[in-house]
Amino acid sequence: MVVPPAKRAKYENIAGLSNQTVATATLPLEDADMDPVQEQEPSTVAADDSPLPVSTSPLDYENGIFLGPMVRIGTLPTRLLSLEYGADLVWGPEIVDRAIMGTQRRVDPRTGVIEYLKDDKQVFSCHPIERPYLVFQVGSANPEQAAQAVKIITEHDDVAAVDLNCGCPKPFSTHAGMGANLLSTPDLLCNILTAMRRAAPPHVAVTCKIRLLPTQEATIALVDQIVRTGAIECLTVHCRTKDMRPREPALLDRLRDIVDHVNATAKSLHRKIPVVCNGDCWDASVAPRIKELTGVTSTMIARGAEANPSCFRTEGNLSVPDTIAPKLIQYSLALNNPIGNTKYCLGQLAFKPSESIPKEVQLQGKTKMMPKKQLSALRSGISQAKTQEDLAKVFNIDPEHVRSQDVDAIILRDLKEALSKRARTTSGGFDGQRVGAVVGNANEGARDGTGSSGGQGAEDGHASGGGQSRATDNSPQPEWKQLLAEKIGKHIKDEKSLLYYALSTVEAQTSVHDAAKPHVRYVVHRGFVNEKRDGDASGGIAPQNPNFGSSPCLMTTTDVRTPKVQQLISQSGIRAQGTDGSHGGEGEIAWWIESAQLQFRISGTLHVLPTEGHPLRSSFPYDRLTPPRAPGSTSTEPFDWDGERSRIFNKLNPGLLASFCRPTPGSAHPNLDALDTARPKDDTSSPWPLELPQPGKEETEQQRQQLRESEKNFALLVIEPRSVDVVNLADDTRTIYELKPGQNAATGEWTKRRVVP
Ligand SMILES: Cc1cc2nc3c(=O)[nH]c(=O)nc-3n(C[C@H](O)[C@H](O)[C@H](O)COP(=O)(O)O)c2cc1C
Repeated sequence: MVVPPAKRAKYENIAGLSNQTVATATLPLEDADMDPVQEQEPSTVAADDSPLPVSTSPLDYENGIFLGPMVRIGTLPTRLLSLEYGADLVWGPEIVDRAIMGTQRRVDPRTGVIEYLKDDKQVFSCHPIERPYLVFQVGSANPEQAAQAVKIITEHDDVAAVDLNCGCPKPFSTHAGMGANLLSTPDLLCNILTAMRRAAPPHVAVTCKIRLLPTQEATIALVDQIVRTGAIECLTVHCRTKDMRPREPALLDRLRDIVDHVNATAKSLHRKIPVVCNGDCWDASVAPRIKELTGVTSTMIARGAEANPSCFRTEGNLSVPDTIAPKLIQYSLALNNPIGNTKYCLGQLAFKPSESIPKEVQLQGKTKMMPKKQLSALRSGISQAKTQEDLAKVFNIDPEHVRSQDVDAIILRDLKEALSKRARTTSGGFDGQRVGAVVGNANEGARDGTGSSGGQGAEDGHASGGGQSRATDNSPQPEWKQLLAEKIGKHIKDEKSLLYYALSTVEAQTSVHDAAKPHVRYVVHRGFVNEKRDGDASGGIAPQNPNFGSSPCLMTTTDVRTPKVQQLISQSGIRAQGTDGSHGGEGEIAWWIESAQLQFRISGTLHVLPTEGHPLRSSFPYDRLTPPRAPGSTSTEPFDWDGERSRIFNKLNPGLLASFCRPTPGSAHPNLDALDTARPKDDTSSPWPLELPQPGKEETEQQRQQLRESEKNFALLVIEPRSVDVVNLADDTRTIYELKPGQNAATGEWTKRRVVP
């Protein structure tokens, strides 16, 4: 842990630079030298006394090694390199709330890079491949503005967590009340955290990074207050006080008491809030010692990664001039990182003889280090470069070749391989608990419907026999839907359970050492979009709105606070993205109809439609899923999706209506301690209503309020089918129906092919 003098000198330089660079937090990357600080206005936000929403974030902060937040350094190329070389989670650079407010979000369809732009300048950029591991750090001294920043960055589900910077000691940050100044205004600090928790969707974690206060007593009082907000999932402690310089050794010996206190307080709240140790962890080889010393299970590296992002490797650092610098240039070229930032990151890399050969080779004492002269030529090449091309030339890289390569297949290949390798191997590495992660879903688009009939004779998959059958009087339907609807109608009287089907989703990997996990549950079929039962109609089904026809999109319901919702939106492949910015998640239904000996496996995209004001509403494909217009209808009204959602909500039974106003499903039971000892008559097991009257039949103000709360948590789940696999055990046949490529499920045409059962 002793820093060699050469390294110290460099870090002092870096620290000097960091004084300036942290100041750039409000600025587009290219404008680092302008004065970034705008006065923060005092908060006018009214205190919200309602219970704080519980996070359902799947992130695992234990047993990890993380890239710390660094202004200008923690940009996309550094983060991707860090992930590639073993970081479990990566913090982005601090972005001040007002900087992200008012930005435009732009996605580059070729590279996948997501940019937040103001006046055409990049304030922040990220890539879907890092999304499960990406923490967005906010600088703020105002709960309302912090909440707005969080809403902006989580609206399209671009990050896994949001973090509050409570550690920056530089005057430009502290004079505005942000950064380390929040340490002396703990009520404001906690109000910002709770505002962030309320603003973030449940599956996005809120965390916080602090420094030590001068006394241990004050530090423990502060962390106690922070933990008791219930707002955070993890606390990072930079083990220096506000007045300490970066070159002064971190006060690691003060951390153990703090860790013990956080663990005990979190336990008393039935929570787990891991503490992450930051300060003087230079590379993965130092981490075990820090853990032993402090009692944490995770560490965070900042300056070590600034100098060499391969510092997360348990096998030792890779060579900066041979591997790291060229890779950083490649990522920057391929992903269009702003030149000023690429140059800055390259300039901060450790071009020193000791970093010119990998550590494991150094240890063998065999290889010669790169001569100083050669290294200084590289350094001066970087500082003179004016364009990405100039930078590439310094390292003999052909920029056109890099730019012509497919981002998904070639540029991100090493990163994907590294992530999937960690998924497959249990590391015997530095803590023996790292299990590995899985690559994201970047290839989803490749499977998109085409060419799958493979010579098996695809036919028209619409209901046949005297033209097209109709589910309602005004709409032709695919054959599989006709078959399903017919069997439901025929057998529902004798087989009540046929209205339940199993719905599976995929939970994204929660750390780079984990794998994606399937989840299955039974849900109730709530009909097809715009269909209602009507005894007088032919086939017993009539359109809810006669200006529209039937749709083969299925409906069920969900609670917006459940993990299912987060699984849906986090597993959104390219295939599930609409041109209107909508995106759903991957899902599959397995539906067994015993009386007919039929299994339907319906694969497709799942879309959540919550009530007004919920951030997920912007992901719903309102137009694409609109049912076909009824023949002869001259109406131009849009389909009333909210009417459809309310219709299903109003029909829920009293027990289900009440279930939506309980605390978050799956969260700790509020009467946990009393449950085992309660007598049968003690009402401890359900301190919430068991039934609610249907809307319009409320008898008390309390019921009205509870129903409002239920509706707020209720969402319609619409399943947009893409392929349907029907197995008929009675006839021993199997038929696969597929939506024709490029068509949408609400109105599109289907193919049909028979396969071996
Ligand atoms: C260049 C640079 C930029 C930094 N920017 C931030 C920042 O944006 N937010 C933050 O919380 N800390 C920031 N820090 C502090 C680091 O995250 C970290 O707390 C500190 O460097 C101690 O960790 P280390 O010893 O591993 O470097 C920055 C540090 C450096 C060197």
